[in-house]
Amino acid sequence: MSEAIIPSISPAAAQIMTRLQDRQARIGIIGLGYVGLPLTLLFSEARFSVLGFDVDQAKVDTLNGGGSYIYRILPAEIQQAQKAGFEATTDYSRIAEVDTIVICVPTPLNEYHEPDLSFIEATGHAIAPNLRAGQLVVLESTTYPGTTEEVLLPILEKENGASLRAASTTPGSMVDPAHHFFIAFSPEREDPGNTSVARRDIPKVVGGLDPQAAELAAAMYGAIFNRVVRVSTPAAAEMTKLLENIYRCVNIALVNELKLLCLRMGIDIWEVVGAAATKPFGFQPFYPGPGLGGHCIPVDPFYLSWKAKEFDFRTRFIELAGEINTSMPYHVLAAVSRALNQRKKALNGAKILVLGVAYKRDVDDLRESPALTIIELLQHESAEVSYHDPYFPKIGKGRKYDLQMTCASLDHLGQYDCVLIITDHSDYDYETIVNQSQLVVDTRNATRGIASDKIVHC
Ligand SMILES: NC(=O)c1ccc[n+]([C@@H]2O[C@H](COP(=O)([O-])OP(=O)(O)OC[C@H]3O[C@@H](n4cnc5c(N)ncnc54)[C@H](O)[C@@H]3O)[C@@H](O)[C@H]2O)c1
Repeated sequence: MSEAIIPSISPAAAQIMTRLQDRQARIGIIGLGYVGLPLTLLFSEARFSVLGFDVDQAKVDTLNGGGSYIYRILPAEIQQAQKAGFEATTDYSRIAEVDTIVICVPTPLNEYHEPDLSFIEATGHAIAPNLRAGQLVVLESTTYPGTTEEVLLPILEKENGASLRAASTTPGSMVDPAHHFFIAFSPEREDPGNTSVARRDIPKVVGGLDPQAAELAAAMYGAIFNRVVRVSTPAAAEMTKLLENIYRCVNIALVNELKLLCLRMGIDIWEVVGAAATKPFGFQPFYPGPGLGGHCIPVDPFYLSWKAKEFDFRTRFIELAGEINTSMPYHVLAAVSRALNQRKKALNGAKILVLGVAYKRDVDDLRESPALTIIELLQHESAEVSYHDPYFPKIGKGRKYDLQMTCASLDHLGQYDCVLIITDHSDYDYETIVNQSQLVVDTRNATRGIASDKIVHC
């Protein structure tokens, strides 16, 4: 349900509103990845016809053939969406066919750890010449406050060739409403792999450039989410998403630092967090691990640090959290070396099986996974590294790694000098793993409850 109603809207906005309410509106989704594809399914389930855009021809072909490339999305779900009108394309001239355009393209960091907005810019350049009056454009990619207004909007306004302007509350920006398009920002707040909250129960935050854009975005998302939360501007919505991810990043760093102290003091950090979590107010548990992973938590905070410099401001919490979290793989390396040393073995030449390489439990996503850094660090010390992960038969080349490895079998665990648990997938039988291994270094407390002197927690 939308939380606010504006008194009047222009004919262009009224038309799209009616089409949204009647499920006649065609929804355009740009970027059919981990965010865009599930969103496509939500709109399709709500009987909207979706036209998906992606630059990756192989993905487009897979989807149009009724297939899927995301583990947790079944081909049957794509086929069901096709029955509701879903189609994928690489052809941006078809932007004219849709009523709303939702942008879900990547926002990584570049090699200098700065925001890489090239995907958003490329999308803007591709949409602009095909934009038509009355369309609603919503950016969902996580980014720093100001991106929608300062980066995307100027591209759309300058390059559309039809003198279209975004409906805006800026004084002096009066444009014939017949030449308006609408623009908003709405962050994606999904927690991959978390099945405890249904996607439609995650409230959808929306910030429109003007009240009409907010109204239209709220109507569109209100059709697929149970609650829409409006904020006053796109920048406020952009900042909301960053606050959420920075909160996680800083708290994970805190618990990682306390884990290092607890290890020295001989205290079990997992026991401590578990006990603290029984407090019914004022405490939310975060858990230590081998380092941050995923496309969001290790990346997004630095979007804000970069933007803050423009305001002569240093985001010290973000920098400190980044420092602690990025040091965790080095801590794991030292822990493996120490555990081997205690068994009179050297890291050099040791056979090590890394168990779980996904960046977190039960997901098929390798992006920024600490496992990749740890494998590289171990290889650098001349360890003989293998890995196992049910989600990855192979690890090839990514943006920051080139490992070319094939998934090992779990049949002969005794051959490894050390089994190193990096990702605690729920499919693993940890008791059997411990029984069959010589040494298990556990970064996730996956072996809790198993009594064995083969286990080293780190
Ligand atoms: N994955 C998550 O769980 C998650 C959660 C919250 C927010 N986000 C944010 O959502 C955004 C998208 O993330 P994702 O995980 O879906 O990324 P992804 O890499 O899985 O998907 C992005 C898709 O965009 C396509 N693409 C790239 N450039 C394009 C262009 N110019 N035109 C059309 N398609 C293009 C890619 O081919 C890819 O299929 C990012 O900003 C991310 O930070 C992601």
